[in-house]
Amino acid sequence: MDFEIINGSVTALETECLVVALEAEGVLCPSAAAVDQAANGYLTELVNSGDISGKAGEQLMLFKVPGVKARRVLLVGLGTAKERKDRHYRKMLKGITASLSKSGISSVAFAFDGCASYRDDVYRATRQLVEWVSAEFYQYDETKSKKADPIKLENVQILLSEDDTELGEGALLDGVAIANGVSTARELGNLPGNICTPTYLAERAEALAEEFDDIHTKILDEDEMAELGMNSLLAVGRGSAQPSRLIVMEYNGGETGEKPHVLVGKGITFDTGGISLKPGAGMDEMKFDMCGAASVFGAMEAVAEMQLPLNVVGVVAAAENMPGSQATKPGDVVTTMSGKTVEILNTDAEGRLVLCDALTYAGRNYEPETMVDIATLTGACIIALGHHATGILSNDKELAGALMDSGDYASDRGWPLPLWDEFQEQLDSNFADIANIGGRPAGTITAACFLSRFTEEYRWAHLDIAGVAWNSGGKEKGATGRCVPLLSQYLLDLAEQVEVDEHDHGHEH
Ligand code: BES
Ligand code: MN
Ligand code: ZN
Repeated sequence: MDFEIINGSVTALETECLVVALEAEGVLCPSAAAVDQAANGYLTELVNSGDISGKAGEQLMLFKVPGVKARRVLLVGLGTAKERKDRHYRKMLKGITASLSKSGISSVAFAFDGCASYRDDVYRATRQLVEWVSAEFYQYDETKSKKADPIKLENVQILLSEDDTELGEGALLDGVAIANGVSTARELGNLPGNICTPTYLAERAEALAEEFDDIHTKILDEDEMAELGMNSLLAVGRGSAQPSRLIVMEYNGGETGEKPHVLVGKGITFDTGGISLKPGAGMDEMKFDMCGAASVFGAMEAVAEMQLPLNVVGVVAAAENMPGSQATKPGDVVTTMSGKTVEILNTDAEGRLVLCDALTYAGRNYEPETMVDIATLTGACIIALGHHATGILSNDKELAGALMDSGDYASDRGWPLPLWDEFQEQLDSNFADIANIGGRPAGTITAACFLSRFTEEYRWAHLDIAGVAWNSGGKEKGATGRCVPLLSQYLLDLAEQVEVDEHDHGHEH
């Protein structure tokens, strides 16, 4: 599918389907009004006759509209001013793409005149259109014998004024890059645990380095991790026949020597709970326990595609949590790479065990500017924030704020939870420096508290995506690709800061 920004007269557009909008009470947006005028009041007549009123979600497909070159005109309702939030916009695009697919339409042109979103931001509305239309066409068929039908829609045009074209072109490039990242994250998440193993993830990282000159990959096997003392990470994979991997992807878009921003992803390719075995019902969904890792892959791809002027390192802690005969047992004590000892009271709290060593590794090797880990870490996060918000926990107010803002802008929102010292006591152990569980109260916070013990020297944030990384059950079951948009936006904003700094610097000389 190709996206393109275009200018010019809406009536002269040659496309299979021109999409124009009207607001509640039948108020035509500028492009719809232009079509109406060319068609001698045809659209006004449809409004007057009650065939369309402008309610949110309404659609009317019109053929052979006089005075316009487009083969079809799809008239869509935007509803009232209150119905222009991101979720309304997204739902509308979903409805439109469903109609396009149903009719097998190969080209479409959107002419919304900035009316579809409540924010007056052409870049944002255009990028959203690109991201969300792309997402609607994602199809999983990797493990089906009958492959999905090829997508008929080939050409998507977005009509903007000449003044807005430059912004729109930028939005298009960023939107395509982020959409690709989201699609990669969804695909990795959806692949079953017997295919998407730690070894498979390592291969995908190597493939990413093949694809992008600016990405270099380093894979650590179990012996190398043992050498470094990553006993906590290794303890998780011990019950599995699948060997664990530490996957490192370096993207060098910034100056050499410039401190990188590090993303660390939880890559549990299947979480049975280990000896602290999970109940059977719905356990298949624990193949999604590598969605944090998937979002790191997606963000690395997006960043490389956008060629951001930053150094970014993606680290994935990949292991399979199984109850084999060699498996770690409740009560076992391990020494982490940091030297701190951990009493593993529950082998199902394994995410923090792989992450702590990955965080120590990243800190020691890269002295990062910031460190953000992403993990499907706790069921408690679903209780706290449901399926809408990523949990944000951080030792740095500014970083937490930046991630909040990025999520908001990218329509991939997070919400903060506190990391007060009071919670730390829940991790006290009689037999080690720290216990790996903190009891039922505030499960998301105590999990983050655990990680905070390994990130004291850095500006660090933890994103708990347990509630947002996939949809459960039903037709929509599958990985969402969250939080690739949030992470990409976070890095885009940092890159913009670099550009501003460079600009200011230039003025000094
Ligand atoms: N991967 C799970 C968290 C999870 C569960 C995410 C369900 C999404 C849906 C994690 O490894 C886990 O098992 N966490 C335990 C921690 C507990 C043992 C302290 C949990 O949340 O129950
Ligand atoms: Mn678990
Ligand atoms: Zn898990």
